[in-house]
Amino acid sequence: MLSYRHAFHAGNHADVLKHLVLIEMLRYLTQKSAPLMVIDTHAGAGCYRLASREAQKLCEYQEGIGRIWQAEDAPVAVAQYLAAVRELNPTGELAQYPGSPWLARRFLRPADPLRLFELHGNEARALSQTFAGAGRAVRVVEGDGLALLKSLLPPPGRRALTFIDPSYETRHDYSAVIAALKDAGKRFATGTYALWYPVLARLESRQLPERVQRLSANWLHVRLLVRAPSSDGIGMSGSGLIVFNPPWTLADTLRQTLPWLTQRLAQDERAEWRLETGEKRTED
Ligand SMILES: C[S@@+](CC[C@H](N)C(=O)[O-])C[C@H]1O[C@@H](n2cnc3c(N)ncnc32)[C@H](O)[C@@H]1O
Repeated sequence: MLSYRHAFHAGNHADVLKHLVLIEMLRYLTQKSAPLMVIDTHAGAGCYRLASREAQKLCEYQEGIGRIWQAEDAPVAVAQYLAAVRELNPTGELAQYPGSPWLARRFLRPADPLRLFELHGNEARALSQTFAGAGRAVRVVEGDGLALLKSLLPPPGRRALTFIDPSYETRHDYSAVIAALKDAGKRFATGTYALWYPVLARLESRQLPERVQRLSANWLHVRLLVRAPSSDGIGMSGSGLIVFNPPWTLADTLRQTLPWLTQRLAQDERAEWRLETGEKRTED
């Protein structure tokens, strides 16, 4: 049994980046009236109390959402993200942080299907509670989201955003996302897929972006480093997302947003952002 629990990390710099990108994609993809299915393969608990013992252990949120929560000069994309976080904290005190399922629900229309997978029982139960009474459009499944993804592809309306946010606890997680994305591309090549990854010293993490980019004809890669890698190679110095078939507006929005965000989240002078987009390379 693996030990990762997102409650220890909720609202950190990686959550800020991944949730900002998620919201931008949702805002674009819900402009068309046709239904959009969102598949969250690694959903977590859905919502996090920042006063919890877990969140207070390392207080990672203070170096993430805590740094920008009160900003009044944020670029539009950040302002939209902050508005969603503030909705969850109506008293003006930062008490709760939304997970990807909560944000997806917030930006979807009532009839848009939301499919949430979570492997671990306690998290899946918390997720079910978060969405109790949410109606038939939302389904919570306790199980392996990467293995079960194929059961949803292609989606009935042929419009879907798949958000893949693994905990990368084992080496297997890296090969599993590659295999799942390869398989998903064969079943439903025109869908939008977003894969989050941590910037770590380990080889699998360093190789992942290049390996993933080879799988798609149309990708966007965004990365935000908040600090230099530590000398002992431990810890996450930043994170990134690779998006297949991104909304055409996403690259420009990120270019306008990342300088501000990087400056606000920087932990040392090595903080930087990078954005690349690409055409097809050779198949793996
Ligand atoms: C990084 S957290 C997800 C956070 C969430 N996406 C968010 O943004 O709020 C990763 C979650 O995936 C779960 N998990 C790990 N392996 C999984 C798998 N194969 N299928 C589904 N969930 C998995 C973990 O229990 C953990 O709750």
